[in-house]
Order: sequence, then structure tokens, then C-alpha cells
Amino acid sequence: MAEETSTLHRGLREVYIDRTTSSYIDGKAGKLWYRGYSIDDLASNCTFEEVIYLVMNGELPTQSELDTFVQELSDNMTLPEAIIDIIRITKDAHPMDVLRTAISALAAFDPEVNDNSAEATLRKGTRLTAQAPTIVTTHARIRNGQDPINPSPDLSLAGNFLYMLFGEIPDPEDTKLIDKDFVLHAEHGLNASSFGARVSASTQADLHCAITTGISVLKGPSHGGAAESVMTMSLEIGSEENAEQYVKDTLGGGGRIMGFGHRIYKAVDPRSIHIQDDLKALGERKGEPKWYSILQKVVEVMAPYSRRGICQNVDFFSGAMYYLLGIPEDLFISIFAVGRIPGWTAQVVEQFENNILLRPRLQYVGELDREFIAIENR
Ligand code: COA
Repeated sequence: MAEETSTLHRGLREVYIDRTTSSYIDGKAGKLWYRGYSIDDLASNCTFEEVIYLVMNGELPTQSELDTFVQELSDNMTLPEAIIDIIRITKDAHPMDVLRTAISALAAFDPEVNDNSAEATLRKGTRLTAQAPTIVTTHARIRNGQDPINPSPDLSLAGNFLYMLFGEIPDPEDTKLIDKDFVLHAEHGLNASSFGARVSASTQADLHCAITTGISVLKGPSHGGAAESVMTMSLEIGSEENAEQYVKDTLGGGGRIMGFGHRIYKAVDPRSIHIQDDLKALGERKGEPKWYSILQKVVEVMAPYSRRGICQNVDFFSGAMYYLLGIPEDLFISIFAVGRIPGWTAQVVEQFENNILLRPRLQYVGELDREFIAIENR
């Protein structure tokens, strides 16, 4: 039996692999900054378009820089016909699988696909950020037997998301909620999907490869899939009175409460506070306050866990918000993915700027020098 004695860092917990200026999480205090700006200031005052610009370029845009950038996004929202055909062929797959496939296929149509310079990578990131909402909504309509809707140059990315999904000019208050949700998901340190994107970039693969990896890694329920699971939980709970028993039964059976816990936050995730307020107001506006009440009750019952640092994360309230906006549950992770493309892009640019192959090791615990036996004698 071979046994190496080097120290194991399972899950890469507390391992720092590089430096960044993209975002910083103070997990103990429950604070988050993008490029040095507090998430609270950004969520309260900025559009997603401003935040994309900030995350990708490092600075908030001036009005004229923003106008040019918004035009660039708008010019790139339409998909090539062949991508719509691919969406048709794969329409029965999970929306994240379709998004991953379509983003991967877009590489074939991007004239700068092999150019890994910072300038080209940022241009490609801008195009992919613009194209992603069109992919998600085109798929949602095609699988329902509806025609896709072309993006409107008069709407923001968030407005277009709702417009292309439902076919009606959205309520500005609903648009604001999706816009803020995109802002809150734009960037988040070395989470698993950003790490995946960086691993791709570290081999000098291009941005389309890195974002395809990011989408793949995001799909799991321990990462982006939690919002959908929280909504499933809320539907199972059904009413506030059942919440306490549900939580006790789940935890008693060794299960986890989805939307709780985080590798870095040991306090309430600051992003969840914004979504919590938005969900409360939305529930009242739509005459359906019960989802907020159910989730609030779960938070109350989870108080002993919160004291251990297992608190509500960004996914806890977002699922109910999407649900009240009429968005199908299996699209929830795709909304997260659309919001995160700027963050993945920024980190890929950082990785390229000071590249080193990401290649950790595994401790080998198997046998060595086993006797080889020819196939006819086994
Ligand atoms: N419900 C109940 N207990 C939880 C929990 C949850 N949601 N999340 C973590 N814990 C407990 C674990 O059971 C473990 O307890 P133990 O030390 O007694 O064994 C302890 O907290 C540490 O959990 P661990 O899985 O080692 O932490 P991690 O940093 O590897 O995991 C998550 C982080 C996000 C994967 C984890 O908290 C989780 O599964 N949460 C639910 C899924 C979710 O909401 N994901 C979205 C993240 S944004």
C-alpha cells in the first residue's frame, strides 16, 4: 500500500490559490464588495448593466461609457439562427443543459473565439452576457410550443429577460427585481463555478470553454441549484404552521435545509437581505404573502443553526421571488448563470493576466507493484 504523507486540503477549504481585485467576501461580518464597492450600494443604486461594466472593467462607467456599453449589449442579444436550431433540437433537456450547449456552440460563431487577450475576452464576455438571456427565454418558449421573441432595443437585459419569456412588456417593478437579482449574482470570489472557469482558463482554453465549465459546475444543488430546491421545500411545507415540523423532520432525518449554509459566510449572506425585502414587498403586491411567511418561519426555526454560522444564503428567498413572478422553477438556476457571466469573465481575464496552470495533487492510497497477469490467465 502506497501512502503519501503530505497534508490534505479536502474541498480546498481555506486554501488561497491567487490574488484578485474582482470581489471580496467578509464571511464573518456578512459583507461583500465588487471591485471595492459595497454590494448594498450597488444593489440599491446601480443597474445590472452598470455592474457588468464595473465587474468586467474594474471601474463604474460614466454616463457616456454606460450608453455605449448598453448599445453594445443590445446589439449582441440576437442569436444566430443555427443556435436557435440547436435549442430546438435540445429543447427537452434541463434549461441549464441547453444554456451550456448553446454557449458552447456560440464559440463556432464568434470571430474572436481563439483570441485570449484581455480586450477580446471582455468583448466576448459582453457578447455572452447579452446572448444568455435570449438563450434561456428562447428555450423556455420553444419547449412550450411558442415562437421565440426577438429582444427589444428599448429594454434592459432584465426587462428583455421578462419580455422574451412572457411576450409582454414587463411591469417596471418586476423588471427592477430581476435587475437587482442579476446585480446580486454578478461576482462572488472563488466559488466552485468560478474555480471551474479558472481551471479551464489556466490551460489557456478560451472564454467560451471557461463559461461552459462555469455553467456545468453551477448546476449542482450545492451551488446554483439551491433556489429551485428551496421553492420545492416551500411548496411541500405549504403553510407557515407546517414549517417547524418540516424543518425538524428534515434535520432529524440527517437532511439539510436548502438555502442555508455557505462555505465562506458564517453570518447572514448580505445578498439574501436584499432579496428578502424584495420578496416581502412582492408577496404583498401580488396578494400572496404566504411564501414569505413560510420562509420567515423556517429562518426562525433555524435560529440554533444560525448561531453556529449556518445562515440563510442568496438562494433562500430568491426562489419564491421568481415563483411569484411566474418563472418556471427549472429556470431558476439559469437566472443565476446569466447574472454570473460577468464575474466568470472578470476572473478569466485575471487568470490570463498572471496565468499558472491549476494542477493540484491527489494523495495516492492504492497499491503499487501488483503482479501483472495476462488476460487469458485472469
Ligand atoms: N442545513 C443543515 N445543516 C447544514 C447545512 C444546511 N443547509 N449546511 C451545512 N450544514 C452543516 C453540516 O451538516 C455540517 O455539520 P457537521 O459539522 O455537524 O457535520 C456543517 O454544517 C458543515 O457543513 P459542510 O457541508 O461541511 O460545509 P460546506 O462548507 O462544505 O458546505 C454548502 C457548504 C453550501 C454546500 C452547505 O451549507 C449546503 O449543503 N447548503 C445547502 C445547499 C445550498 O443552500 N447551497 C447554496 C449555496 S449558495
